[in-house]
Amino acid sequence: MPALDLPHLYSGKVRDIYDAADGRLLMVASDRISAFDVVMAEPVPNKGRVLTAMSAFWFQQFEGIVGNHLISTDLADLPAAARDESIAGRFMLCRRADMLAIECIVRGYLTGSAWKEYRADGTMHGASLPAGLQESDRLPEPVFTPSTKADSGHDENISFERAADLIGRDLAEQARDVSIELYRRGAELAAQRGIIIADTKFELGIIDGELVLADEVLTPDSSRFWPRAVAAGIDTAVVRQTADP
Ligand SMILES: Nc1ncnc2c1ncn2[C@@H]1O[C@H](COP(=O)(O)OP(=O)(O)O)[C@@H](O)[C@H]1O
Ligand SMILES: [Mg+2]
Repeated sequence: MPALDLPHLYSGKVRDIYDAADGRLLMVASDRISAFDVVMAEPVPNKGRVLTAMSAFWFQQFEGIVGNHLISTDLADLPAAARDESIAGRFMLCRRADMLAIECIVRGYLTGSAWKEYRADGTMHGASLPAGLQESDRLPEPVFTPSTKADSGHDENISFERAADLIGRDLAEQARDVSIELYRRGAELAAQRGIIIADTKFELGIIDGELVLADEVLTPDSSRFWPRAVAAGIDTAVVRQTADP
């Protein structure tokens, strides 16, 4: 963890979060790697910079769809006490949001925990799907499949109805519509580069009464990226190893 002269609020599995005053957070992405909620002993050099650059790219791409929490990735904009070269490229100065109590997952393909549930019960997050789908099949259309946001342990896949109970129906509907739109747009751009975004997790929050995109966006930590050539059948082993978003 970098030694910054700001109040340290929280360290997640990947990010260290500091209070940057005036309703702002400084989020520093470390090189820690986590899968299935386990933080690995070996960091990946500069991984935090990749996550930060990708999220910044997507926040900008999506500005026309939804606002976001990002204020700046420029060292010059930080409070003097935090202007440390060691965090260059790996931080986001953000507006603090009231995070929704759900994770906004969108699935375009049937894999991971959704595949497990479908294989066992023929459903996905409790909703029925056509019979006869195979692992990694494309879904008829992208589906909003939320999960709980567990403080510790694993997030639990939930139905849309359950999400509506947790955060209110209006907000759940807004979150669903925005998430699906973001997934569609992101998947379309990735497809132009030969990449399938099989599924992803967005985190939305409220700032000044407005629903905004927060956290990280369409990174390898929050999403499954499949090379189209691999998914076309050359070698599907890689497809099955990745963790849920
Ligand atoms: N703008 C924001 N305001 C408040 N909390 C946020 C904001 N953006 C992201 N977060 C939260 O900060 C944490 C990010 O740190 P991370 O290491 O990714 O944590 P986690 O282990 O929970 O995934 C997450 O809990 C996320 O929900
Ligand atoms: Mg996270």
